[in-house]
Amino acid sequence: MAEDEKINKDSIIEIVGLSKTFKTKNSEVNALKDINLTINKGDVFGIIGMSGAGKSTLVRCMNFLERPTEGKVLFDGRDLFSMSAIELRRTRQEIGMIFQQFNLLMQRTVEENICFPMEIAKIDKSKQKARVKELLEIVDLSDKINAYPSQLSGGQKQRVAIARALATNPKVLLCDEATSALDPKTTRSILALLKDINKRLDITIIIITHEMSVIEEICSHVAIIDNSQIAEYGTVEEIFSHPKTQSAKRLVHPDGELLDFHGQAGKHVRIVFNGNSSFEPVISNMVLKCKAPVNIMFADTKNIDGKAFGQMIVQLPEDNTLSDKMINYLKTQNVELEEVYDFV
Ligand SMILES: Nc1ncnc2c1ncn2[C@@H]1O[C@H](COP(=O)(O)OP(=O)(O)O)[C@@H](O)[C@H]1O
Ligand SMILES: [Mg+2]
Repeated sequence: MAEDEKINKDSIIEIVGLSKTFKTKNSEVNALKDINLTINKGDVFGIIGMSGAGKSTLVRCMNFLERPTEGKVLFDGRDLFSMSAIELRRTRQEIGMIFQQFNLLMQRTVEENICFPMEIAKIDKSKQKARVKELLEIVDLSDKINAYPSQLSGGQKQRVAIARALATNPKVLLCDEATSALDPKTTRSILALLKDINKRLDITIIIITHEMSVIEEICSHVAIIDNSQIAEYGTVEEIFSHPKTQSAKRLVHPDGELLDFHGQAGKHVRIVFNGNSSFEPVISNMVLKCKAPVNIMFADTKNIDGKAFGQMIVQLPEDNTLSDKMINYLKTQNVELEEVYDFV
């Protein structure tokens, strides 16, 4: 198959076999190891991992602020390694970026900050002014056009940074811990703004975070990065309802501890709720119908996009007739069911 045929037409960023090693005087750090990731147009793609996992390095490799040691980065089907310096600069204008610390120029007004990337792109002065007005409307900050960053709250500063990042009409917006310096209420309003930008302006959004709540709030897809590697990735629904790796289980159930059910009387079943039903009626009807209590060993629900997701580990009665009756009842409900022997 020719190289070109392999390119996924819907992808905006495709990362293939990417590794990054930082060489310092006395040591080497393998910040990223063999990363493979496809981000499609229109996704709100979350990348989550602990501090030092390699998140910032990964996102900086997406626009070649950091050059990978090995592997490929394709942006809209084009290999960044094959680009000249000028092409790379032009491509970077299609990739906006915002940061935890906002990175505004303190000596410049809001308007002058937003004009900055347009000055570099040599856009007409009068066009710059018109664009600033549009952008400030999008981020709902028109009244601060002449303010200086020091006169703004954290949330307002991030709105200015978002307006600046959108100035050159990017296809992708990279957000590196963009809400990590903000309080919960401001975080929610910035996430709502990012979602709006994704929907209204059709911009793919990549969100780096260490907080699961940020992923829950707005992401369609999530990749879990652990110790410089992608542990798993997929839709948020998939990862939340069926975390496969230990790192995913730890993130989805941070308070879970290893429960070992071997040798305990009674079967243990995992009931997965995937947005088609809710916990309470299913469990209470089962108990009423079978006239026997169950022991709930673990339960965790999440509300994603207004639908209930989550899972429950239930210990069924020792009596096989009763436990079979319960299993048969559960099979008639809109839930997934499996017997489990341990659980993180
Ligand atoms: N410029 C650099 N030089 C040397 N080591 C670096 C550099 N940037 C990052 N690292 C190392 O790479 C690893 C991943 O860092 P980073 O991508 O910043 O993680 P995260 O954003 O997930 O906290 C860390 O061990 C960090 O110390
Ligand atoms: Mg980081």
